Amino acid sequence: LPAHPAISVPRVIAHRGYSARAPENTLAAVRAAHQAGVRWVELDVQLLGDGTPVIWHDRDVKRCSNGSSALAALDRESAQRLDVGAWFSAAFQGERMARLEEMLALLNTLNMGLNLELKINKGHDPLALTQRIIPEVLAALPPERLIVSSFSQPALAAARAMAPPQALALGLLAKRLPCDWPHRCNAISAFSVHLDWRYVKAASLAALNRAGVTVMCYTANDPVAFAPRWQWGVSSVISDNPTVFMPPG
Ligand code: G3P
Ligand code: MG
Repeated sequence: LPAHPAISVPRVIAHRGYSARAPENTLAAVRAAHQAGVRWVELDVQLLGDGTPVIWHDRDVKRCSNGSSALAALDRESAQRLDVGAWFSAAFQGERMARLEEMLALLNTLNMGLNLELKINKGHDPLALTQRIIPEVLAALPPERLIVSSFSQPALAAARAMAPPQALALGLLAKRLPCDWPHRCNAISAFSVHLDWRYVKAASLAALNRAGVTVMCYTANDPVAFAPRWQWGVSSVISDNPTVFMPPG
């Protein structure tokens, strides 16, 4: 097994920040997670048309802002003019789209861990995103507080080419565990695989654990339905509502 960073794997990761309580992928959502006692957040990263890295999930801004354009049609200034909080509730009116740079600064201030998803939406270039993002996150966060994941094997391979396993933990994202997972994990010296919680099977989790691969599940919000998976060998749950998976108090 390759050496990996000494990550204290979190049991609960807040999906897109505490997205049940605050607009997803915003500074406010990360602050809400911190206030609730959550130690790690999952966030999506993409590039604006001018190459500025931003924390955003969709390929356009229709669902989560007062605008409607494709992300690629925005530059830093036009993105900053959007309101990305009012769609969620009036309490978050005036929230601005988070640039990666300011999000990394906040995570350091709060001493939080980050699962950063390299989000390759339709028509986007996995290499351009990866090569722009990886140096910036490696410069900002220590390897013990960072896991970079993606559904895109080319993005993960490009990330691995930029940093060895001991300097950067990589997570293979998949809805269902692919048959060729040993090959795909080996190719990127994966630290973890991140699977849709609904489709994970006890037998394949055992095989992953035997291979020394940490298993995380997304996006689960019902701790009772999720519960058997802890015994099957899942280490972490990525949840919109992380506190429901945390001990009371
Ligand atoms: O990283 C887990 C999860 O975020 C993947 O799906 O669509 O919520 O980014 P999505
Ligand atoms: Mg994501």
